[in-house]
Amino acid sequence: MILVAPSILSADFARLGKSCVAMGDAGADILHFDVMDGMFVPNISFGIPVLKDLNKYTDMPIDVHLMIEEPHRYIKQFAENGADYITIHVEAESDIEGTLKMIADYGVIPAVSVKPGTPAEAVFPYLEKIGMILVMSVEPGFGGQSFMPCAIDKVRILREECNRRGLTDMLIEVDGGINLETGKLVVDAGADVLVAGSALFNADDPASIIAQFKTMA
Ligand code: DX5
Ligand code: ZN
Repeated sequence: MILVAPSILSADFARLGKSCVAMGDAGADILHFDVMDGMFVPNISFGIPVLKDLNKYTDMPIDVHLMIEEPHRYIKQFAENGADYITIHVEAESDIEGTLKMIADYGVIPAVSVKPGTPAEAVFPYLEKIGMILVMSVEPGFGGQSFMPCAIDKVRILREECNRRGLTDMLIEVDGGINLETGKLVVDAGADVLVAGSALFNADDPASIIAQFKTMA
């Protein structure tokens, strides 16, 4: 089954609650919540107070993608304010194992992400400790960029390694430049969670795009 996760980075922030509810009504499964600190990535987005308020508007699961340095400093706050998944970058954290354990101890699903230049193998040591892998298909920091095809092989390698280890429930999420064409490429390689920002928030009929994503497998 394919899960569709609209990236709210592309939403109109002045109408955020309504836009997120509309995405749920259009068939989306998860809200993708991009947190940026101006250090790990050259952009600043939103954080804990926005997560807290968003949870008053929607029951959809929220997938918090932390593009911040040393995310262990903020796991408690994101977990207590309604994160359902928390994704950390292997490139950003000095204690990856400890941070994943902290996330799981709060009852949140831990996930690990890799930037385009980081090999798939960088995730291998953590596979038994996570429920989802996030493969970046753009350099993190901005919505609306073009898909980088290097993500396709990375998804394939990760799906094969998960299958080899019997981790058949592992979610593999792809984020960046996902549309109907690139989404199909990564689904064929083994991805099952599609993050899409501009492709959904700029669409006239997001429900039709979500429906097409969901029938790709
Ligand atoms: C980029 C973010 C993405 C971004 C995706 O750093 O992690 O989630 O919002 O936007 P699109 O789908 O427009 O590439
Ligand atoms: Zn993201």
